[in-house]
Amino acid sequence: MYKGAILAPMVRIGTLPTRLLCLEEGADLVYTEEIIDHRLMDCRKFEHKNGLVEFKLTAEDNPVLQTCAKEKEKVILQLGTADPNRAVKAAKLCQDHISGVDVNMGCPKAYSTKGGMGAAMLKTPDLAESILKALVQELDIPVTCKIRCLKTLEETVEFAKRMEKTGIAALAIHGRQKTERSRADPCRSLWIAEVAKSLKIPVLANGGSGEIKSRSDIDEFQEKTGTAGVLVARAAMWNPSVFNKDGPRHVFEVVKRYCKLCLEYDFALEVMKYNVLSMLRDLQDKDPRGLATKPALSSKEIAECWGVVQEDKDGPNPKKKKLDCESVDREE
Ligand code: FNR
Repeated sequence: MYKGAILAPMVRIGTLPTRLLCLEEGADLVYTEEIIDHRLMDCRKFEHKNGLVEFKLTAEDNPVLQTCAKEKEKVILQLGTADPNRAVKAAKLCQDHISGVDVNMGCPKAYSTKGGMGAAMLKTPDLAESILKALVQELDIPVTCKIRCLKTLEETVEFAKRMEKTGIAALAIHGRQKTERSRADPCRSLWIAEVAKSLKIPVLANGGSGEIKSRSDIDEFQEKTGTAGVLVARAAMWNPSVFNKDGPRHVFEVVKRYCKLCLEYDFALEVMKYNVLSMLRDLQDKDPRGLATKPALSSKEIAECWGVVQEDKDGPNPKKKKLDCESVDREE
């Protein structure tokens, strides 16, 4: 399962419509954005008639996680956590709807590291181990972690080996240290290759988007690092069709399909706008549809900028649509 070209976890980007789009374009697996354990663990499950499954505190709240049957066999939930019990509670809540759970041990941002999460975990291997062991023991689905490079190659390999012993199914490594930045610092591909050589479980390479413009570039990064697969972050954010084996499609075409998926799942305006603008990059200030996307006040309005209108078999009746999406609260 942990092989090939994979959508990497990305806050706001790795949300349901982008994940579905990446799968349509040929991604082998998709990670959710990082979700902090305590935000998820007290949620209830709401199943909608259109197949959408949402985890949220109450029917009125914004969903913490959205998923659907279409991605069930291909979606990995990434957790931000520094506590085994909270991690298990959050993961158990959704394990029937996902394929695996990943622990983020690489986020360098202060909001993560201050709470002992993300890259802070690279300095607390005992805690990291206890979280992974608890998840492996308690869950019916595979567990993985995503790390960064530590201070030296030796320390990186040692940390990865310790994590492997917990029973995880795979390990992903971003080829940069905590203080290194994707835009400024080169990816340490040789370190990734060394980790891949040292472990028996599949290793996933990450950090190569600077050189990734197509599926063949992804394959090249995988070969260069001798890994089982590649986690693609920024290159997929710029154009989710980077996974397409026939070559990437024009970003305008991809934005249209993205808008359709957003309408299908009644997707939130702000995150939709963020994704569309991330795909457009500098075109957002050059193309009239990009300029119209920025001030749009609803998801429908953004979609209309791109010539995408809601397909509703029952006609344009917003009340009827709401009824079809009425939540069925099947708390377990
Ligand atoms: C990220 N990254 C990230 N990593 C992670 O483990 N969990 C997350 O939620 C996020 N969120 C996130 C958001 C955005 C907008 C970006 C650009 C990145 C880091 C990401 O997964 C990856 O490690 C790096 O971007 C390097 O890979 P690429 O971009 O070279 O493929």
